[in-house]
Amino acid sequence: MTATQWTAAALLQRYDEVRSHTERLAAPLSPEDQTVQSMPDVSPTKWHRAHVTWFFETFVLASNEAGFAPFQDQYWFLFNSYYEAVGPRYNRAERGVISRPGAHDVGLYRGNVDARMQDLIDGLDQGTIDKVAATIELGFHHEQQHQELLLMDIKHVLSLNPLRPVYGGAPAPLVDTDRMGWVEVEGGLVEIGHREGAGFSFDNELPLHQVYLEPFRLADRLITNGEWLEFMADGGYRRPELWLSDGWAQVKTNGWAAPFYWSDYDGVWFEHTLHGTFPVNPGLPVSHVSHYEADAYATWAGKRLPTEAEWEHAVRTDTGDAAEPHGNLADTETFHPRAAEPGNGRLRQVYGDCWEWTSSAYLPYPGFHPAAGAIGEYNGKFMSNQMVLRGGCALTPPGHARASYRNFFPPGARWALSGVRLADGGAPA
Ligand SMILES: [Fe+2]
Repeated sequence: MTATQWTAAALLQRYDEVRSHTERLAAPLSPEDQTVQSMPDVSPTKWHRAHVTWFFETFVLASNEAGFAPFQDQYWFLFNSYYEAVGPRYNRAERGVISRPGAHDVGLYRGNVDARMQDLIDGLDQGTIDKVAATIELGFHHEQQHQELLLMDIKHVLSLNPLRPVYGGAPAPLVDTDRMGWVEVEGGLVEIGHREGAGFSFDNELPLHQVYLEPFRLADRLITNGEWLEFMADGGYRRPELWLSDGWAQVKTNGWAAPFYWSDYDGVWFEHTLHGTFPVNPGLPVSHVSHYEADAYATWAGKRLPTEAEWEHAVRTDTGDAAEPHGNLADTETFHPRAAEPGNGRLRQVYGDCWEWTSSAYLPYPGFHPAAGAIGEYNGKFMSNQMVLRGGCALTPPGHARASYRNFFPPGARWALSGVRLADGGAPA
């Protein structure tokens, strides 16, 4: 959904910014790096680069370019992610066995679509721009989602290499963090969802609707590695009474004993990051934990996870609607969560650092209607068996975080850059 009045010049400028940023993220990676799929959830870098290009070709060029013909017939099959209405697609779990097109040829595909998109936008009258801008803008935000996924995915790819390759960023100095505080939030009937005039949103952030909240408290920062070590030392991964049944089953089946990227070397916990493998830094936020682990930690701490409505209302109350989201997002190029600033009675680490698990199932808001046609498959069909995360992470592009943004992953997912903020009091909405 867009509320922006686009001109051709503004669309062209934004198109160039978003597209060139993807290429900057891929630039440190060799063609071999870009080909690996280390597990079914992970996509190769070159697949991300091609798929976001396919999105513009399929949803913008195909219906608006005179004499349209696809760049390559088979690319429609290879780079369709999940759009059933567009046609058959290649098996997601086997993207890593596709050696051709290589990274170089994906670059040619990108260049071709970029030139055609620029020609198209250049030649549109304002009336046509008003009709197609929403889809082009969706393409910008779609590509930003994949910029984040590209980094999460290459982190996993590189984690499996015994040479421990570095992508970028630098380790933070060893830090500790001050005590976690609480922000009291008044309850009542509150408005949740995307507000008109607030710029772009995905369809799943609509419609704006009312939710009743009991008064509650929200932790003023994320849970740290040091606090997670206390949970582990107290048998956190060995005590079934702390866990949801499905979570405990995964602990036993998968042998979970620590966050996803932690390894025990001679009794010392190390963490894999995009800038190498280092001893776990106690003051940084714990990251790469599943919803099940976040929930078990909250139970151990005698607290709970916030609902998504509590999170959104607390953030709007604390930061104000007009505030531009800022924090440790991808433009800081830390590529990793960083320590909280000293407490000041307000919420810290809201945007960036780690996506924050909520206790809310990913469901349609009352009155939700997916868009007509294939583009309606973007969000709505995933509204089962997933939990909502809020806030963004250190790999989220700036301009892609907002109070109403609803990210979602299955509760067992650990490769996403996810962390934990606690809530207390009140009652789930
Ligand atoms: Fe996609």
